[in-house]
Amino acid sequence: MDADVAVCGDPPRARVRDVAVPPSAASRGAILMCAPDYFGVDYIINPWMENQIGRATPSRALSQWENLRSKLAAHGDIAFVAPTPGLPDMVFTANAGLAIDDKAVVSRFHARERRPEERLFCDWFEAQGFAIAPWPENVPFEGAGDALVDHARDIVWCGHGWRSGAEASKHLERIFSRRTIALKLVDPRFYHLDTCFCPLSGGWLMYYPAAFDSASQEAIRAIVPAEKQIDVGEKDALAFACNAVERARRIFLNACSDDLRARLIDAGFTPVVTPLSEFMKAGGAAKCLTLRLPAAAGKVTQPG
Ligand code: ARG
Repeated sequence: MDADVAVCGDPPRARVRDVAVPPSAASRGAILMCAPDYFGVDYIINPWMENQIGRATPSRALSQWENLRSKLAAHGDIAFVAPTPGLPDMVFTANAGLAIDDKAVVSRFHARERRPEERLFCDWFEAQGFAIAPWPENVPFEGAGDALVDHARDIVWCGHGWRSGAEASKHLERIFSRRTIALKLVDPRFYHLDTCFCPLSGGWLMYYPAAFDSASQEAIRAIVPAEKQIDVGEKDALAFACNAVERARRIFLNACSDDLRARLIDAGFTPVVTPLSEFMKAGGAAKCLTLRLPAAAGKVTQPG
């Protein structure tokens, strides 16, 4: 614990955005988003960003983000964190950290370019009343991009290999008192767990098996029965179908083949396609643009 340091404490540096930030009680159960005012591809920290510098169109990004926001807002609350100039990836709030019950862990970015976001997200969590758990200085962790709560099993699936460190899962297990399962990502195009793995309500799991090493594929199969697995093919995976947000039995995602659509419907879900091509240029889609906040202290959030 000696190496653990809380990253909070200084006054907020965010410019206050012109929207009402809900008080802490209102943010419970909400989805956190950050408007794409300063979004763009300004550097390369994942393979999707290669050859995309300066190529995202701001007006199209805004309308795609707004479309996702309004679709999600039809089924529950949205909370906002202020966007900040010079931080083009802050729009990907999945990487703010991980919040469960009344505690939050703030990301410790592997990607140097994103480190200035840490304090801003930390300030936001603090302002909402979350207790910030100390995190070891030398363990990279990129939040809910690499840590997905499986509500049906009350476990946390943790990805590592590209961005978050392999040790992150054991720290999360200690902090949140929940079993964690570490999964090793092996394909650089699927550099965060949420790009290829999506636990859904009712114990369903939509995922792209080839993104994981064989031990991790086995671990997944040992926990999730075959009849609950919705494995997607490469084409859907590359369209970030697994980077999906579930709300009210609907699955919001960038794209979906007819085959995947049929399988989701068979499982009792309604797929809702919401194109996010501008954000794909930065390596993100629906799930990356959101962070699910816990429903209330001491209560596990149920998806939807
Ligand atoms: N350009 C961002 C990065 O590489 C995209 C983040 C996508 N977020 C996610 N949760 N997968 O960090």
